[in-house]
Amino acid sequence: MDKINMKPAWVFSPQPMYLIGTKNEDDTPNFCIITWLGFSFDNGPHLMLTIGGSKQTKTNIMREQSFSANLISTDMIWLADYFGTTTGEEKLKNDMSFHYSWGNHRKVPILDQSKWVYECSVSKTIELEGSHLFLARIENIQIDKSLEDMNMEMIDLEKLDPVIYAPYNYFSIDKRIGGCGEWRSQR
Ligand SMILES: Cc1cc2nc3c(=O)[nH]c(=O)nc-3n(C[C@H](O)[C@H](O)[C@H](O)COP(=O)(O)O)c2cc1C
Repeated sequence: MDKINMKPAWVFSPQPMYLIGTKNEDDTPNFCIITWLGFSFDNGPHLMLTIGGSKQTKTNIMREQSFSANLISTDMIWLADYFGTTTGEEKLKNDMSFHYSWGNHRKVPILDQSKWVYECSVSKTIELEGSHLFLARIENIQIDKSLEDMNMEMIDLEKLDPVIYAPYNYFSIDKRIGGCGEWRSQR
């Protein structure tokens, strides 16, 4: 296949989207979308977030050293879009209705609507040129009770129905196309 070269400006990271939940100083919750997000592993699973500029989420993470990452499924996309396009630095984000509780391991807000939520504590913060990179240990996972019979070694993404982001659009996934190691029977 012929390739063309492009400036490294058009990068996209099409992993499922997450709403990052943090506690404001007055014990109210704040949520925002972070898509510069990745996973890492070192003696347990970790999440990595890159937050640019000044954001309520960044201020809260620096103070509390913890956050939740709430998987966004397609039925929550407009609530997520609201949280990702308004800032808690201006006013409390309460223009759309939502329910939450506090985490079991960390005082981080957990969105009722999210089917898969990580409770994280920050283990390293790296200051970049205007952005901050947070490496955080996943301390606990809260999943929707309806998923309790799912085989956790073969997580069924169709049931989680995650939203995928590619600038500046939201996509859903289509369907399972096969299993690990199936290449042998697919030759
Ligand atoms: C789809 C989408 C993806 C985003 N990804 C990031 C990101 O990876 N890093 C970041 O710093 N901001 C990102 N943002 C911007 C923040 O969500 C936005 O600035 C938000 O208003 C911050 O809210 P806060 O000030 O209450 O934390 C994204 C926004 C959208 C809509």
